[in-house]
Order: sequence, then C-alpha cells, then structure tokens
Amino acid sequence: MIKLSNVSKQYPKRGFALKDVTFQLGKGEFAFLTGHSGSGKSTTMRLIHMVDRPTAGEVRVSGYSSDKVTERDLWKVRRRVGYVFQDFRLLPGRTAYENVAFALEVTGTPPKAIKPKAQRLLSQVGLSTKAGAFVNELSGGEQQRVAIARALVNDPFVLLADEPTGNLDERATRGIMELFWDIQAKGMAVLMATHDLELIRQYPRTRVLELDHGKLVYDSRSPDDGVSRPDPPGPPPPESTGQEGGSSATQGGL
Ligand SMILES: Nc1ncnc2c1ncn2[C@@H]1O[C@H](COP(=O)(O)OP(=O)(O)OP(=O)(O)O)[C@@H](O)[C@H]1O
Ligand SMILES: [Mg+2]
Repeated sequence: MIKLSNVSKQYPKRGFALKDVTFQLGKGEFAFLTGHSGSGKSTTMRLIHMVDRPTAGEVRVSGYSSDKVTERDLWKVRRRVGYVFQDFRLLPGRTAYENVAFALEVTGTPPKAIKPKAQRLLSQVGLSTKAGAFVNELSGGEQQRVAIARALVNDPFVLLADEPTGNLDERATRGIMELFWDIQAKGMAVLMATHDLELIRQYPRTRVLELDHGKLVYDSRSPDDGVSRPDPPGPPPPESTGQEGGSSATQGGL
C-alpha cells in the first residue's frame, strides 16, 4: 500500500534530508514516526503525499510509483492520502463546517452531497455541536479535529498526521489518539509523526519507526513483515507504564 524502497532526499547544498530509507505501511496499520527535530519526519510525509519526489529510490503509494507517476496522476494520489498539518492550515474567518465543506467543494463533491457529508465528518470527529463555530472560537484540540475531518473528505486510505498533538494538553491528546484508533478501526492506515516519547510509551504495542539524521534507525517490525497486525483497540489501562514492551526508541534511544 505504501512502500519506500531505499529512498533518499537530498536538497542542493543542504545534504541529505533522508538517506536510504526502506519501510512499508500496510492497510489499516498504525505507526508512529519519531526522531529528533530535523531527522526527516515531515520530509517522509511529503514524499508519501507526493508533493516532493525522492532523489534516489522509489516511493509507492496505492499502486503509483514516484518513478512513473505523471502530473495528471498526482492529484489522484493526493486525494487518497489525507494530510493533517501541524499548524492546521484552516481557513480563518470560516466556521468548522465551512472548512470541511470547502474541502469537499474543491475536490468535486456534488453540491447536494456536501452538507450531509460535512456533517457526518464533523460528527465522526466529535464536533457536531461546534459546526457553526468560527475557527478562532475553537480550542487547539477542536481545531485539530476540524483539520482531521478535512483530511478525511476524500475517504483516503491513509492519514498522515504531522505532530497532531504537538500543541495539545494531555486530555486533548488522548481524545485525538482515540479518534485515530476509531479511524484505524475503519480500515484506514495512520502514520503519525511525533517526537513525544512519553506518548509513544503509552502505546507499547504500536509500531514505531525512528529516524535519525535522515536514516531509519529503528523499526519495531521487520521491514519484510508487511502483514497488518491488530493495533491497540484503545488506550492502555492506566496502570500500564509501557516499560515491559516499549521499543528501544522509547527506552532511552533518543
Ligand atoms: N525545502 C528544503 N530545503 C532544504 N532543506 C530542507 C528542506 N526541507 C527540509 N530540509 C532539511 O531536511 C531535514 C529534515 O527536515 P524535516 O522537516 O523532514 O524534519 P522533521 O523531522 O520533520 O523535523 P521537526 O521535528 O522539526 O518537524 C532538515 O535538516 C531540514 O533543514
Ligand atoms: Mg516536521
């Protein structure tokens, strides 16, 4: 479904942002993508979104290859990949509903279908009662939910979430994580970039990919094991510390 094979991304005069990265993400799989600031998390996501192309290696997304994809095909790929930006990128001065409806409109949803679909998406992210609220009247966690609803407008098969909990408190973070488990339970893959090791420790059974200076230095699953495994059905019980099953990445690797 998503496969990176020996992928490098080099910027002129800036060296490698990614170097020889290989991993795959299966259908309905959830993985954390972690690493220091500048380690290449956002670069990886942009390559999967195909807004950037690798300088070496191949990125395959839903049957499309970065080697062969045409400009005309690019919009098809991007529609199938939901992207939640760290800074939300919502339309200011518009309501939660209008933000989602606008995304549906520009991607060619028939006018009659826009209202019910926008309402359904807002309900899915737990924001039915705030549909009419302006973006500036929403909390950070609520704005993040609007951004997630907007990323879901085209029924993507994968959701890329770049530091979605970076600015949220513990309670709002937990709410967003629960939302992601719901989304994943519907069969959508989720790749979530985060440098929050404490958060990763709370989900010890979840796959972790760790980047360091553009290299993939840790994958809690073998790269050859492309089979999707069940992920946590929900947050762990409060007494779980994650110590027993935590990855090397979360046990002091960073
Ligand atoms: N357009 C660009 N031109 C030149 N260098 C870039 C560009 N985009 C990213 N880089 C470099 O590539 C490296 C990886 O950047 P990237 O944004 O992927 O890191 P990140 O892991 O997402 O970091 P953060 O946690 O701070 O968001 C950094 O050294 C960055 O300076
Ligand atoms: Mg980043």
